[in-house]
Formats: sequence, structure tokens, C-alpha cells
Amino acid sequence: MNENVHILNHPLLQHKLTILRNENTSTKDFRELVSEIAMLMTYEATRDLPLEDVSVKTPIATDTFKTISGKKIAIVPILRAGLGMVDGVLKMIPSARVGHIGLFRDPQTLKPVKYYCKMPADIADRDILIVDPMLATGGSSCAAIDFMKEYGCKHIKMMNILAAPEGIERVQKEHPDVELYVAGLDDHLNENGYIVPGLGDAGDRIFGTK
Ligand code: PRP
Ligand code: URA
Repeated sequence: MNENVHILNHPLLQHKLTILRNENTSTKDFRELVSEIAMLMTYEATRDLPLEDVSVKTPIATDTFKTISGKKIAIVPILRAGLGMVDGVLKMIPSARVGHIGLFRDPQTLKPVKYYCKMPADIADRDILIVDPMLATGGSSCAAIDFMKEYGCKHIKMMNILAAPEGIERVQKEHPDVELYVAGLDDHLNENGYIVPGLGDAGDRIFGTK
């Protein structure tokens, strides 16, 4: 694994991820946890944001302090499960714009099928944070990254709550420049392309469709 892959092992993330995995966790709790985990992951994924000095007058004195220097960021959820992470990221970066990519994985071929796309007009000038709870074969994530590069985006990070080694390997091979933030790295994929032990179908569990 190269230095662009960050496996986040913060105790709060591990604890929340364990609840997420439990098949008895309700849709409401699952959805809330996905949002909370996304918020905590954003904290880690934004460690390198540039700062600049500002002068601030406190009630006691005037001094120079740090503020984030006007970075333009776009969050790009991969529909549908990625939508569950958007609120959490926006809590940390409220000025971010949101672009949407609709992809679903064909259950037979496991290949991603694109059905929707809407990006902010200035997307090529923004730093991109792609979000999707699951990185399994890596097909959907790589398609989304390809897509953002076609738009001219140069700085791309991706946050996946859970990943399989196969998915990480594929993203690293096809897009070694993309920084990857993962809260949990699981063992393998099963014959249906599901992450084992995993958490099941993230979209179905967020939206209660099964
Ligand atoms: C899931 C998940 C990822 C993709 C991961 O979405 O949210 O987008 O599968 O699998 P991959 O790494 O093998 O491509 P799904 O296609 O089930 O669509 P959904 O979000 O609409 O449920
Ligand atoms: N998509 C999911 O939602 N879950 C998996 O385990 C794999 C792909």
C-alpha cells in the first residue's frame, strides 16, 4: 500500500463502524452513524488544508491567528449510498459545493453503470472529495475518479467507510495520485462482490430499501 492510502483507526471510528456492521442496527441509526463517521473522516482527510494569517481583535487584545485560506472544495457523492455521507462532510466544510454522480453496480457483471451527473460549473478549479461508503471491486470508485479527471479536476481525494483489499489495489493501480481515506479495511470479497465481513448493501441499509 502506498503512502496515499490512509487507514483511519481512531477509536471512535472503530466503535461506530462496529455498530454499523451489526445486522440488527436500525435504518435510522445506520443513517445517523454513516453521517457521523463521514464527519470524523473529514477531520482526518482535511489535515493538509492550507492556513493563512488573519488579524483578530479579541475582547482583550489584537493578534494574528490562523484561518483556512480560501480553498474551493467540492464533495462528490457516488449515488446512491454516497449521499449518506454528504451531511457529515458539510458539517465540517459548510462552504463546499456538491456535485453528484449516479452509478450503480450491475449485479451480474459487477461493472458500474452511469445514470446521472450534475457538477458545479467551476468544478475543474475545485479540490474534489469523492464519498462512497463502500470500496469493493473498485469499479465504481475508479469510474468516478476517471470522470472527475475528464472534467479537468487535478486534486482528488476519496473517502470510503469500508474497503476490500481488491478495491484499494485497483484504485492505487489506476489512480496512484488519488489520496484514499478508509475507516475499515476488511478481508476479501465474496462471490457476489460483497465485502466480507462487511456491513451488507450500504445503499439498502441507508435508505431502508430491503
Ligand atoms: C455500492 C457502493 C459502491 C459500489 C461499490 O453501490 O455504494 O458505489 O457498490 O462496489 P464496487 O467497488 O465493486 O464498484 P451500488 O452499486 O450497490 O448502488 P447504490 O448505492 O445505488 O445501492
Ligand atoms: N456494495 C455494497 O453496498 N456493499 C458491499 O459489500 C459491496 C458493494
